[in-house]
Amino acid sequence: MSQQAQPTPQDPKNPEAHEPETPHLDFDGTTPYEDYVKADVLTHLQHLLSDDPGEMVFLVTTQVMELWFTVIVHEWETAARALREDRVRPAVDALKRSVRELEALNASWKPLGQLTPAQFNSYRGALGEGSGFQSAMYRRLEFLLGEKSAAMLVPHRGSPRVHAELEKALHEPSLYDEVLRLLARRGHAIPDAVLNRDLTRRYEPSPEVEAAWTAVYEGDQNGELARLGEALTDVAELVWRWRNDHLVATRRAMGAKTGTGGSAGVAWLEKRAQKNVFPELWTARSYV
Ligand code: HEM
Repeated sequence: MSQQAQPTPQDPKNPEAHEPETPHLDFDGTTPYEDYVKADVLTHLQHLLSDDPGEMVFLVTTQVMELWFTVIVHEWETAARALREDRVRPAVDALKRSVRELEALNASWKPLGQLTPAQFNSYRGALGEGSGFQSAMYRRLEFLLGEKSAAMLVPHRGSPRVHAELEKALHEPSLYDEVLRLLARRGHAIPDAVLNRDLTRRYEPSPEVEAAWTAVYEGDQNGELARLGEALTDVAELVWRWRNDHLVATRRAMGAKTGTGGSAGVAWLEKRAQKNVFPELWTARSYV
């Protein structure tokens, strides 16, 4: 026979304190949740620049996207390291995690996707020359895709830690460089000019790499390399979607005006959004 649980005597000042289902209430210092999550820090980083009630969601969405960029950079660095060590499965696992994170990142456009010019104008002036163009974490993300550019370090000269991290990322092989090195180790004819390319420059598409992906896709569909190719294609598609959602949100919020960062605005973003991530993974499809 099971024993009945005895009711615990109640503290008259705090009747809930002794109920067995109640979480702990007493901590010597800050809560373990706070120690781990730093929620107090995170929720006090919203320093608004205008009185407009719509600015809060603009700032927080931008901060949320910065956090997703950080997670995705972490996943792609994990994937690049695994590929360097010929561990394809953990690399694909990290890429697949990043696919779900990119979907969450892209869903965060929702609150800003339908801003009208009048709404955006209510706080736009307060942003001064501030622009997402100056996001260092977004640059790290682009560098990992192979879209390297030394010029993108220039805005960060005044922030030593950020600058040092970006400079390191500029000189390191990108995720795509690690993929192509793996293809070469697996017997695909990747030219030396690709394998020993100047890592600080933007990756340029190569016909031999396109031929290698064609061969991968004509081979075993369930093979490791084909699955890696598809995970990378998912990543590329979702990055393209982020860029296009950003473009459309910008077109709705400010038409053809120049950007706060000094660019031509939508016309400049259109050109950036046209570029395909991992180019040969797209062009090879015409030959399979
Ligand atoms: C609807 C609100 C937004 C508008 C109107 C807008 C507008 C622009 C414009 C015009 C540019 C080009 C550079 C410039 O001249 O400023 C730009 C770049 C950029 N924005 Fe936004 N933006 C918005 C929201 C965001 C958010 C929430 C993020 C998240 C971090 C973001 C991230 C970026 C990034 C990373 C770039 C650089 C893109 C590249 O280098 O290709 N933007 N934005």
